[in-house]
Amino acid sequence: MNLNNNDITENIKKRIGGNRLAYVRSFGCQLNVSDSEKIKGLLKKMGFGFTENENNADIIVLNTCAVRENAEDRVFGIVGSMKKLKEKNPSLIIAIAGCMTAQEHIAEKIKKSYPQVDIVVGTSAINSLPKLMLDCLDGQKFSADIKEYDDFSEAVEQVRESSFKASVPIMFGCNNFCTYCIVPYVRGRERSRKPEDIISEVRQLVSEGYKEIMLLGQNVNSYGNDLSSDINFPKLLRMINDIQGDFWIRFMSSHPKDASEELIDTIFECEKVAKHLHLPVQSGSNEILKKMNRNYTAEKYLSIVEYIRKKDPEFSLTTDIIVGFPNESESDFRATLDIMNKVKYDNIYSFIYSRRSGTKAAEIQDSTDEKTKGGRMRELLNLQRNISTEHYKRFIGKTLRVLADGKAKKSDGYLTGKSSEFIIVEFEGDESLIGQFVDVKITEAMNWAVKGVIN
Ligand code: 5AD
Ligand code: SF4
Repeated sequence: MNLNNNDITENIKKRIGGNRLAYVRSFGCQLNVSDSEKIKGLLKKMGFGFTENENNADIIVLNTCAVRENAEDRVFGIVGSMKKLKEKNPSLIIAIAGCMTAQEHIAEKIKKSYPQVDIVVGTSAINSLPKLMLDCLDGQKFSADIKEYDDFSEAVEQVRESSFKASVPIMFGCNNFCTYCIVPYVRGRERSRKPEDIISEVRQLVSEGYKEIMLLGQNVNSYGNDLSSDINFPKLLRMINDIQGDFWIRFMSSHPKDASEELIDTIFECEKVAKHLHLPVQSGSNEILKKMNRNYTAEKYLSIVEYIRKKDPEFSLTTDIIVGFPNESESDFRATLDIMNKVKYDNIYSFIYSRRSGTKAAEIQDSTDEKTKGGRMRELLNLQRNISTEHYKRFIGKTLRVLADGKAKKSDGYLTGKSSEFIIVEFEGDESLIGQFVDVKITEAMNWAVKGVIN
């Protein structure tokens, strides 16, 4: 890795002067948003300010996602349209970062078909951005670094999106190889950050007034498996819970195959850990779960839910579901609806299966047509709407702790936020409350949110 990033950064700063703007756009998951905050940190050090309008930008960074094909298509569309911007402003630098760059065929396609792109930088090579920009300023037509580096830098100062909600990656990569998923191929194997680095980052954030700490990992339940100490995720949660201050802790995602009783006990015992668990089920059919290489059955999944709901029958769960995995039968799909009816999720994130070249599932000949998949998706969303509407009624009359997030879209004078249970809450309130915790007494349940009044 580059030893003299500081010198390079200073050099760029001198060369570009003080009034250049960067446009950084993130696609996909929270981890990408977090990486974009690091990219912005590097750009800020080089002297860039930021703009939300790509037409005003001197550098454009697209931090891409490869999880589903439509995300990739969107990026290609945007890069295509940037040809015009480059013609107008030949000194504009266009950089592609993120998961798409780690797929060789995509990197090739960018290089071949999109000459407007100057820089390609891989997910673990973010720190090479200053060097790549220097190459660019020196007149090099195209420069790329998509090598896999182990040393995720602890030193990069982030430019954070929010002044009260912060994402903190605790690990990178994934070892699970779910057969539909590209992540293990583009993000590499699991690498955990040292607990002391995570703790000191959280301490710093809390001292700056951050109210929500979102711990990120593809599967936080395997946090620490690659470290020599006996740390694991529940222990890390307890260490963070012990940090003084008024904040709550969220985390994502938690693979059901190793969601332990220790984890669940920890959620209940730690007062700062939000009372919500995102537990991606993907499918309710054992046959499909096996083909997905998920390493649990619907029964095992339901036994975790039962353990949780014995402690608190109203505990809030959310999930991810894939509709239309290759050759998913009608009865496989019914099994997914069945598990949704049993668990009663507060919210689901559902996706139609997207074939990812290079994954195991991509080799399966799929006989289910797209129309059937679309119909299933609609049925699933309808069911969830009914479940949410019914299930949210349990909050009526209760007071929920809510982190006020911003102004509500439709109604004037209303704010929106998320409760500890990860439920969207709307309530009347002054804008000065944004970024603060408020207690809201719930008066009404809708199918996507609840409404209430400040207590
Ligand atoms: N097609 C559709 N959805 C996918 N996901 C991951 N890979 C794919 C794919 N190939 C979904 C899973 C995962 C979420 C982040 O994205 O549900 O939990
Ligand atoms: Fe993909 Fe499975 Fe890893 Fe999640 S656990 S990132 S779905 S391979």
